[in-house]
Amino acid sequence: MEIYINQEHQTFHLQNNAISYIMMVLPDGSLGHLYYGTRLHEHPNWRHLLETCNRPMSSNPLASRPDFSLEHVLQEYPSSHVTDYREAAFHAINEDGGDAISFKYVGYRVEEGKVKIDGLPATYVEKSDEAKTLTIIVEDPLTHLKAELYYTIFADAPIMTRSVKFINEGKTTLHLRKVMSMCLDFPDHDFTWMQFSGSWARERHPYERSLEIGVTAIGSLRGHSSHQQNPFVILKRRETTESNGEAYAFSFVYSGNFLALAEVDNYETLRLTMGIHPEHFDWCLEPSQSFSTPEVVMAYTTKGLNDLSGSLHHLYRTRLVRGYWRDRVRPILLNSWEACYFDVTEDKVLAMAKKAKACGVELFVIDDGYFKNRHNDYAGLGDWEVDEEKFPHGFNYLTTRLKEMGLMTGLWIEPEMVNKESELYRTHPDYILQEQGRESAVGRHQYVLDFTRKEVVDTIYTKLEKLLSSGDFSYVKWDMNRSISEAHSLNLPASHQGEVFHRYILGVYDLYERLIQRFPHMLFESCASGGARFDAGMLYYAPQAWTSDDTDAIERLKIQYGTSYGYPLVSMGSHVSAVPNHQLMRTTPLKTRAHVAYFGTFGYELDPRELSVQDIAEMKKQTTFMKKYRKIIQMGTFYRLKSPFTSNEAAWMVVSDDQQEAIVGYYRILSEVNAPYRRVKLMGLNPDLQYRIDENEISYYGDELMSRGLITTDETSSGDGNSRGDYTSYLYILRAIK
Ligand code: GLA
Repeated sequence: MEIYINQEHQTFHLQNNAISYIMMVLPDGSLGHLYYGTRLHEHPNWRHLLETCNRPMSSNPLASRPDFSLEHVLQEYPSSHVTDYREAAFHAINEDGGDAISFKYVGYRVEEGKVKIDGLPATYVEKSDEAKTLTIIVEDPLTHLKAELYYTIFADAPIMTRSVKFINEGKTTLHLRKVMSMCLDFPDHDFTWMQFSGSWARERHPYERSLEIGVTAIGSLRGHSSHQQNPFVILKRRETTESNGEAYAFSFVYSGNFLALAEVDNYETLRLTMGIHPEHFDWCLEPSQSFSTPEVVMAYTTKGLNDLSGSLHHLYRTRLVRGYWRDRVRPILLNSWEACYFDVTEDKVLAMAKKAKACGVELFVIDDGYFKNRHNDYAGLGDWEVDEEKFPHGFNYLTTRLKEMGLMTGLWIEPEMVNKESELYRTHPDYILQEQGRESAVGRHQYVLDFTRKEVVDTIYTKLEKLLSSGDFSYVKWDMNRSISEAHSLNLPASHQGEVFHRYILGVYDLYERLIQRFPHMLFESCASGGARFDAGMLYYAPQAWTSDDTDAIERLKIQYGTSYGYPLVSMGSHVSAVPNHQLMRTTPLKTRAHVAYFGTFGYELDPRELSVQDIAEMKKQTTFMKKYRKIIQMGTFYRLKSPFTSNEAAWMVVSDDQQEAIVGYYRILSEVNAPYRRVKLMGLNPDLQYRIDENEISYYGDELMSRGLITTDETSSGDGNSRGDYTSYLYILRAIK
């Protein structure tokens, strides 16, 4: 890893074994982009990469250079209104309304390691030699608005991160109206754009389209990253596959409103910007104040999408997730929600826990419904006091009983919300986001608390600290069950109302941080009506996230497959639930449900008292299996093999770091009559090692399994008697012969 700086030619080259990123100062003093992709040798002078030409109708910042217009060069952090007519990276307004603010190069710094971003989640290093950071300082000569552009390159990964800090060094107040974390110009637009979209209960399905002249964009204006669009996009070459070809990934480490936008101009160059959504955003920056944007993580590959995902998985697992649970396999849990809904009681918990423990469960999670007045979703949010009728002996008693059984206890909370029917709302109706004199909308019968206000966050912290200290809790599921509307704070003056969405999420991060500091061993699982806040920002605080409220195994194949493009298996909450499934009424075999849920954190969302003797025996086998293999599943390397979006089959696998063991999950959705022979080409094995499958006598070289494939035709597969019928699945355990 090296950062080359040529002072004479004013060029900058960040390089590691896999990638290069090259910039230069342009003739007008702004910062230009030259290259991002496969590693290049350092060159004594990169200026030959700057192409300019005298184009009709262009505007020119330098009267002497009619061939130079910002519209026709690649840039790093472009402004609007100064000869570039494409989407700008930022937009700031001066006191007199002038907005031709544009940045000129001032200087640079190089640091070992990574610069911290105050109050925001970000990837990190543990040792300073894991990364290097180049900070380029630019300034607007008129307003003295300064920006520090941060570029971090990791030593051992094809990964860079970018973020920006604005500093008002002038004498007047400025308004930041757009502050993208990253802008990246490409010399061509020959890419397929991949986005991960959906809705409640069908999150993160991959969608693709080729980029054409004009704008392609996704974003969220809901106050959370959303079910609808995930803050993550991939640009891949048309010929790129899961195992081959060039691709770039862009992942936003943020949980609020966002925008990812690609613009192809009429000369077929591409600009990609990613950051906080500029709509509803207006940050008032007084003299000497600063504003930091969240971080964008950029990954690159020439080896296909599995390799791209693998780089992100590894980084997020080891250098975004923090704390006690980072390197630990996750406990097998049983969650009360689909078993009890709001009718959860001490008696039920103790009875279910006894059964669950006998089946090998390690953590019992009390979901919604345990607190005062919470008999449905109309009341109770905001008060956080245990319902003594449902839990007559309190949580100290209950968690002690569970501990005696050998179980950890977890609790559901929804800290950011309040019901009208609550003590908190009765005493503090001003604590919700609202406009004076206008009725606020409800979502799931609840209002959104004004987390821009410190006293609101303090109040909730005090209540939750008391609640979580009232028993011996090891796990918290932090939910967020509605989108934000009327994003207005009674506490802020008019000129600061455009800050509400961002200040809100800063309040959420602050509460998370305080609870983490207070309960450092607590395992947090984030949730937002299932997967509406499954983003890299949340993973910094909560190492795992509830992937979706849809627990049907067949739907989960798609949701988990799509989620895996950007996020590691160990972050995906995945449970076996009862049949018929509560969202779809579909009945799938217990075995298939587990075969899907193994590829995540694993748990159950059902009442174990209602299971048959056979199912209990099966459940015991499942927890035994997961305990044996979860290290490989959660810490190994994951590969997508067959997409459930394009065929009747799906397959994926994990391989241990030493390539000695692998587990393949193979799923056939609907049964077929007289079907063709089937096989799946495996990935990530050692081609020179021989593997035995499921303890069978025959062994296969890794190269055969990866090139000829693993035969999955029912009759010749593991032959477990489950080969006919809909929704069947097989797990293949591969072990290298010593
Ligand atoms: C959300 C979550 C569910 C459950 C309910 C409880 O919908 O996604 O898992 O916790 O809230 O109200």
